[in-house]
Amino acid sequence: MIKACVAGATGYTGLELIRLLLQHPNIQIKHVTADSNKGKRLSEVCPSLTGVFDQELVALEPGLASDCDVVFLALPHTASMDKVPEMLQAGCRVIDLSADFRLHEQEVYETWYQTKHQSPELLEQAVYGLPELHREKIKTAKLVANPGCYPTGAILGLAPLMQCDWVHLDSVIIDSKSGVSGAGRKLNTGTQFCEANEGVSAYGLTTHRHTPEIEQELSGLAGKNLSVVFSPHLMPMTRGILSTLYISLTKEMSVEAVLSHFQNFYRDEPFIRLLPPGQYPATQRVVRSNFCDLGVAVDKRTNRLIIATAIDNLMKGASSQAVQNCNLMFDFPETEGLEGVPVFP
Ligand SMILES: NC(=O)c1ccc[n+]([C@@H]2O[C@H](COP(=O)([O-])OP(=O)(O)OC[C@H]3O[C@@H](n4cnc5c(N)ncnc54)[C@H](OP(=O)(O)O)[C@@H]3O)[C@@H](O)[C@H]2O)c1
Repeated sequence: MIKACVAGATGYTGLELIRLLLQHPNIQIKHVTADSNKGKRLSEVCPSLTGVFDQELVALEPGLASDCDVVFLALPHTASMDKVPEMLQAGCRVIDLSADFRLHEQEVYETWYQTKHQSPELLEQAVYGLPELHREKIKTAKLVANPGCYPTGAILGLAPLMQCDWVHLDSVIIDSKSGVSGAGRKLNTGTQFCEANEGVSAYGLTTHRHTPEIEQELSGLAGKNLSVVFSPHLMPMTRGILSTLYISLTKEMSVEAVLSHFQNFYRDEPFIRLLPPGQYPATQRVVRSNFCDLGVAVDKRTNRLIIATAIDNLMKGASSQAVQNCNLMFDFPETEGLEGVPVFP
């Protein structure tokens, strides 16, 4: 049994981590931290945990790491990056759900996030925590940068194509729709009920901070620098991300041939579900699970391949992916504690 600290336990991803870790046979929650809610009991901030798990919320101090094996950082970006070196020195491993260690280049981080990186020396050793691409490196990593929610769905849908000569790699368009929990629990005008309900809105066109993360991972697979068009949308739903991905074909391909290529790329992956021809993913079929559902269509008229992926942004897009990474880091079965299945038809 290993001991874990959940930092940012009162936020959406932190609470999801607690729900998952309480059911995990090999991980015990030792500390839970908060910022504005520190000093309260968890049930005061999250009444659904009353009688289940009701620890006191403490302030995040690097010293908390000294009696833990792993710290999950579920905090806004920049909130903890200066504390990570001390946690690692204490011998603790860190899984950071924020964007602080996802980008390999300090300059790229500082340009897109408009802030100075406080621990740039760690960027080189941080491993991007997408198990389907970096499983072996994650196993031995001290610091795992858990991927962003949009990048998870987009990269998983496009990764199998990055070495194929039958697609134009410079033609990628990513159209994504996210539930409102993607913006976190903190108050924000744009995500209030009246603003987000009964409408769909585009935002961050050409400027969304997940763009360089997607480009970094796809470029790494392609072996050359790629640029993508990424257009996010806010949907009036609580959870889920549906990404529709477009890429031009260089020659005629059948859906069956493309799917067979994807099947080969993702063989033995426990959390990737490829749908048969004519079936496409829906967010409600992956809610509260670690699955990424993936469907493929070929538009023969326009010679484009269209891939659709669905994930739960708080699960495969954040907390359950963090637990999957933790399982790999501590040599637990990769699916341990992640067996929950969605129930929607
Ligand atoms: N939401 C998603 O779908 C999603 C998906 C992937 C990745 N992420 C990333 O995961 C991280 C957490 O996201 P979230 O949606 O869970 O956020 P959230 O709901 O806003 O929760 C933030 C948590 O961090 C604490 N906190 C805020 N400022 C802090 C500070 N300066 N020092 C220490 N603790 C602080 C808050 O404590 P109090 O409540 O006490 O103030 C709260 O527990 C973010 O970096 C986000 O980008 C989110």
